[in-house]
Amino acid sequence: MKEKIRFNFRRLYASYPRSAVVATSYDGERKTAMSLVWHTPLSFDPPIYSISVAPKRFSHDVILRALTFAVHFFPYERAELVERIGSVSGRDVDKFEEFPLPHLMSPLENPIIEGAYLVLDCEYLDHRLIGDHTLIWGEIKRVYYDPDFVEMAEDGGMDLKVVRPTLYMGRGKYATVDLSSVKKLRD
Ligand SMILES: Cc1cc2nc3c(=O)[nH]c(=O)nc-3n(C[C@H](O)[C@H](O)[C@H](O)COP(=O)(O)O)c2cc1C
Repeated sequence: MKEKIRFNFRRLYASYPRSAVVATSYDGERKTAMSLVWHTPLSFDPPIYSISVAPKRFSHDVILRALTFAVHFFPYERAELVERIGSVSGRDVDKFEEFPLPHLMSPLENPIIEGAYLVLDCEYLDHRLIGDHTLIWGEIKRVYYDPDFVEMAEDGGMDLKVVRPTLYMGRGKYATVDLSSVKKLRD
């Protein structure tokens, strides 16, 4: 192994692919949508999900005013949409009007965009500035899912049926899972 102390973390795409999602929110005035690869679950019970948002994003202040956000998982076939949502700012374009983004509003008043196979509808719990990003976390109050792609078990668990997740490789490159590579190592 070689060692390197000076490296560009912004371009450390060797640590990718990462799943790319879209977060939405609505503060009563503007709806917002941004793409994210920095997102992660934090707790099973209660179910807590987090997103890491740069303060300069239009979505940052909208989410912190709204105190709610929804996290969308789109299939690989919608990667172009994820790229587009993550390439322009709501400061310049109303993505919901211009693209457009057909959606319904959740009881938390989060836009739920059509075409996602899974959406986590989250209520804000807290946030913390970590370096140049703000980690925002919230409790998942409900999920929306597409039964064509997601299988719901009796115990409320959910599995992917056929969907190909959207993975981001950096530098505008997207990939998905090669289903022939899946190994089941446990019953
Ligand atoms: C695939 C992809 C992943 C991204 N991941 C993040 C991320 O994790 N955090 C972040 O702050 N911005 C991320 N961005 C950038 C924002 O999505 C982008 O700046 C977007 O235009 C912000 O929109 P807004 O200004 O309307 O909020 C990502 C962009 C793309 C295309």
